[in-house]
Amino acid sequence: MKKMQFSSLNVSHIFKSSDKYIIGIVNNQSSESFVFKIANKNNEELNKEINRIRELRSQYNFMRKRLGPIVDHGVFEKGYHKGKCYYLYPLIDGDTFSHFVQKPSIDHYKIGKTFKLLCSETLRFCREHKFDSGYDKSSGSFIKSLIKHSIIQLNDLLSVRALLELGDLTINKRKKTNIKEVVYQILNHSAVKKLDKLNSFVSEVGHWNFHGDNVIIKDLSSPNSFSFIDPDIHIDTCDPLFTLARFLYTYPHDTADYSQYVIESNYLFPNKDDNCYFNIKTLWPQVVSQLYSELFDPFLDQASSRINNIISDIGDDELLRLQLNYLLCLLRGITANYESKFSIPSNKLSFFQNKGIFLYLTAVVFANDMRDKLYGN
Ligand SMILES: Nc1ncnc2c1ncn2[C@@H]1O[C@H](COP(=O)(O)OP(=O)(O)OP(=O)(O)O)[C@@H](O)[C@H]1O
Ligand SMILES: [Mg+2]
Repeated sequence: MKKMQFSSLNVSHIFKSSDKYIIGIVNNQSSESFVFKIANKNNEELNKEINRIRELRSQYNFMRKRLGPIVDHGVFEKGYHKGKCYYLYPLIDGDTFSHFVQKPSIDHYKIGKTFKLLCSETLRFCREHKFDSGYDKSSGSFIKSLIKHSIIQLNDLLSVRALLELGDLTINKRKKTNIKEVVYQILNHSAVKKLDKLNSFVSEVGHWNFHGDNVIIKDLSSPNSFSFIDPDIHIDTCDPLFTLARFLYTYPHDTADYSQYVIESNYLFPNKDDNCYFNIKTLWPQVVSQLYSELFDPFLDQASSRINNIISDIGDDELLRLQLNYLLCLLRGITANYESKFSIPSNKLSFFQNKGIFLYLTAVVFANDMRDKLYGN
């Protein structure tokens, strides 16, 4: 492919500018559009992303169709960005799945149809993944070790650490077993132990990052017009169902990412060290939260088999793996979205926002429901 010169391209739009990346659209002289990603501080990570995209496209037809190619990459030789790494890929003219859900006048039927197709196509891709036979009869233990490791990592997070030391938590007026205890109850269940009887369901190259803001829909009237961007290069080896779990985790991900929640609690009261309560309130407009719930709650609804409404042919072992991977998504999310500061929007200590705590509480609620379902309560 002919090498393009970044200097001959016009920047027409910026999607995001953070301390990690600048992401936007550039056009060439023939009015073709590309998305660029510039690493502000970590060239190595961006290079890893480039390599991952290439590897995924070379190993999987599904990815060759759904994940755009790297059109150009390099390091800026002069100017403000001198020394920084960048890459270009084709612009997918459309919008992210999450942005569609957030449009108040969106057609629920169309988005529902796209959602189901995304789930079933992703499941099909997860099943066709190349599995590493080194994990035959030990994949369950491998996933368990990832979950345990993500719990241990919480000890390093200052604003979350005090939560770990509490006993039961009261969340939305219901008593919940705290995270360590409930996760160990799950991991010790016989159904989870039995996963080690299976052949490998662990894979070494994956995208791992299908949450709704990494899914681009070209045209909502044609559900099959979806693509993916932005693989998670912080994970190398995992169960491919982690990728589907990441999509099902879109609602808490977006609620944290767009700061659409507030937590009412006595956690920040000085000298308070036990009996903490937390009431989580989402701030999305009602039509938006209703649509997120309509789409994603069937997976969370442990009491019935509403999951079959979205993924009709999922097997028992697959569902258990999916739930373990969802738990892993939430636990990793606490660390990935960690912020040491609390924001106090109404100047009252009893209302705060903190992404890590929000995801911690969401993980506690999910894990308690999962434990209850596993033990038949
Ligand atoms: N090809 C594209 N078409 C439409 N929107 C895009 C495209 N590429 C990126 N975007 C927009 O830019 C946003 C950020 O891009 P991207 O997901 O690559 O970065 P990021 O999530 O900040 O990166 P990371 O997760 O690695 O920190 C996307 O969520 C989407 O809104
Ligand atoms: Mg992204």
